[in-house]
Formats: sequence, structure tokens, C-alpha cells
Amino acid sequence: MAENAPSKSTPIRRVFSGIQPSGKLTLGNYLGAMRNFVKLQHQAECYFCVVDLHALTVPQDPKELYQNTLDLARLYVAAGIDPNVATIFVQSHNPDHAQMGWLMEVSSYFGEMSRMTQFKDKARKAEVVTTGLFTYPALMAADILLYQATHVPVGEDQKQHLELTRDIAIRLNRRFQEEFFTVPEPYIPPQKAGGRIMSLQDPTSKMSKSASDPNSYILLSDPPDVIRKKIKRAVTDMDREVRYDEKNKPGISNLMVILSLCTGQSLDEIAGKYDGYGQFKKDVAEAVVATLEPIQKRFKELSEPGIIEEILAKGAEKAEAASRPTLKGFMERLGMVPRRTL
Ligand code: TRP
Repeated sequence: MAENAPSKSTPIRRVFSGIQPSGKLTLGNYLGAMRNFVKLQHQAECYFCVVDLHALTVPQDPKELYQNTLDLARLYVAAGIDPNVATIFVQSHNPDHAQMGWLMEVSSYFGEMSRMTQFKDKARKAEVVTTGLFTYPALMAADILLYQATHVPVGEDQKQHLELTRDIAIRLNRRFQEEFFTVPEPYIPPQKAGGRIMSLQDPTSKMSKSASDPNSYILLSDPPDVIRKKIKRAVTDMDREVRYDEKNKPGISNLMVILSLCTGQSLDEIAGKYDGYGQFKKDVAEAVVATLEPIQKRFKELSEPGIIEEILAKGAEKAEAASRPTLKGFMERLGMVPRRTL
């Protein structure tokens, strides 16, 4: 089951990743992404960003954006990212992102931007299509290149954007005739299970908070009884066998992955343990409840006024100190006159 081993070409030195503060987070976000961030912080210099500028590419309610931004930052910390080890910050708090975003827009081509499949998807469905939704990948390239990230943990849906980022970096390095920008690689966690947590109601599609049926996802903020109810109702299949088979038993396989990630048991261990789904589902529910409980507790503590604000203030300083030399060096190479202080 071991899939792509981590890349052999570059050692992991710097990691950048961003999550949009749009809406609530699900168990899928935690098991699939954040848990890996927690491990990565001890292997590399890590920057974890709340990408509010990206969230603004679609209409946002101001009050909700404000709350979601602080909550996402709290969740990074509650999930186990230590703000003294990694840098946690809000994208707009470091103005280098917006400036670098523009410089990426003029370093990329309309043609390559037009090939981004996520834009085409989103544009088809959206009521309003902002210019920013189109240039979104340029801002993402800015995020990554500003920090000279060697690795970027991304899901399938972001791979094309990362590929574009690499193309831009390689092109600029060629133009400058030096390795000015680090060419980033996708980071794929060593264990396969967990890359994708699927919907509880339609286990062939990814668990997403934007699904219309709340029974299809578990929110990180769901209380224990809601979690138990949602797992009890999760779609399975007609036989009684707890066995990993993504194709023929997607629902059971998904629940097995969840149980495995929450308890550390292997899929084989789990498969041998049950006859029938009743006890299995109960165990999955209790494992999820136990996994989320300490996160929810820390999240609550971090909701005391001032705590997350202070973490973010420090994060913004660290982020800016890291990105500024890249921005300055890039502007110098482009021939821009640096501002002199009086
Ligand atoms: N586009 C990413 C998403 O929607 C979020 C993001 C913005 C990001 N900037 C990034 C992810 C830089 C990785 C690196 O999931």
C-alpha cells in the first residue's frame, strides 16, 4: 500500500502550506492535511498560513471571514502545531504576499493561467467570477516562492497549481541565470491512507463541508453525539464483511481508514477483528470522538481573547523576516529601484 515515497531529489528543508479560511473544517482536513503538518514541523522549517487573500476570490461575508480566519489559526494550534516551532500567520498580515502576487502575475502567461482546471471548474459553478479567481494560482506561487519552500503538502486538486509554480520558478531562474528561486516539490506523506477521507454519504467523493447533506461530513467542531449519529448513518454495503476494498466497498474502506488513522491500527488488523458492522461503526465513532476531544478542548482554551491574536502577531513578524529578502532580491533582479529610507 506504500505509495509515493517522499521525494529523493531534495531534502525537506522548508515547508509552506496554506488553508483558506472559508467555512468550517472537517475531519478530512484534519486527518488528511493538518496531522501531517504537525509531524512536518519537527522535520523542516515550516510556514503554515491562513490564506485570507485567497478566500476573497469568492464573495465572503465580512463577519464570517473574520471569525473563520481566527478559528482556522486556532485550529492549527489546537491540532498540535507549536507556534514556537513553526510559523503560523495570516497571509494579509505580511504585505509581501500581495506584492509578490503581482510580480507573479507579470511573470506568468495568460495562456498557462487559462489552462488551470480548478478555475474552469469554479468559474462554471460560480455566480460571480472575480479577476482574482482567475489569477489565484499566481498568488499561490507567490506564497510558496517567497519562502523558498522546498516542499509543499498539497492534495490532488492543487497539484496543477504547484506545477505552474515550478514552471514560473524555473523560467525566472533561467532568465536570471542563477538558482534564485527554490523549485518546490509536492510533499506526499509516506503513508497512503489518509490522503483522502471520503464523504460518509457518497464514499466515492471527497469529504467536503460544502456538500449539501451535513451527514456526509464530520466537522472538527461536532459534539460527540453528532459524531456518533453521523457515523451510525454512514453509507456501507450489503454484505457483513469488514474488509478493505476501495472499489467494491468504498464506504467500509473509508471508515477503516478513519479508524486506522485515529487509533494507529493497520487496515489488516482492523479487517480481522469484526463480524458485522454494528460494533465496527461503534468503534469508529468512539475513535473519532477520542481523537477530536483534546483538539476541541485546546480550541476552546485558545478562544480566550488575545491568545491567538498574540500568536498571529509573532507569526507575521517571523513570516515577514523570512520573505522580505526574497522579495527584495527578486525586485532588484527585475530592475526595480529600491525605496530608500530617509
Ligand atoms: N490553494 C490552496 C487550497 O485551496 C490554498 C493555498 C494557497 C496553498 N496558497 C498555498 C496551499 C500555498 C499550498 C501552498 O487548498
